[in-house]
Amino acid sequence: MTLTDSDKAAVVALWGKIAPQANAIGAEALERLFLSYPQTKTYFSHFDLSHGSADLANHGGKVVNALGEAAKHINDLDAALSTLSDLHAYNLRVDPGNFKLLSHTIQVTLAIHFHKEFDAATHAAWDKFLAEVATVLTSKYR
Ligand code: HEM
Repeated sequence: MTLTDSDKAAVVALWGKIAPQANAIGAEALERLFLSYPQTKTYFSHFDLSHGSADLANHGGKVVNALGEAAKHINDLDAALSTLSDLHAYNLRVDPGNFKLLSHTIQVTLAIHFHKEFDAATHAAWDKFLAEVATVLTSKYR
């Protein structure tokens, strides 16, 4: 599951396209998560989850920009995601299975918006990258 050099290059290259639309991409990935897997809404009962809401855009932007930070530090994900890892494990206690669901809806969103760039190699690279991010974010559960 280790990211190869070409995986890393593919992740970073697509991040360059995602960055200017971080809020919109993130909002769509979250909306798809909540529509496809309604049980995930329980973590966000304090948010307005209606289509086009400011909460979806703000939080979507936070999640996607965190992925951008991870892409910038792709050789040291543990350190780059350490604070977020504490937050998800100790404070939020998100069930680890939910990370696979979000990873999926992020990939669906990327495939739709970056139809040309999201080829098989880029898809495989992002799948691995999101799995690595999820591994770090769920590494402190006990
Ligand atoms: C908060 C990133 C997966 C639930 C956050 C924040 C970021 C983030 C950047 C904001 C931290 C802050 O405000 O300091 C990520 C990333 C994920 C991920 C990169 C995986 C790719 C998940 C999953 C769930 C979840 C799968 C649950 C289904 C939450 C909740 C908050 C949060 C409930 C707090 C929201 C609030 O009250 O403001 N996450 N997250 N996260 N995350 Fe995650």
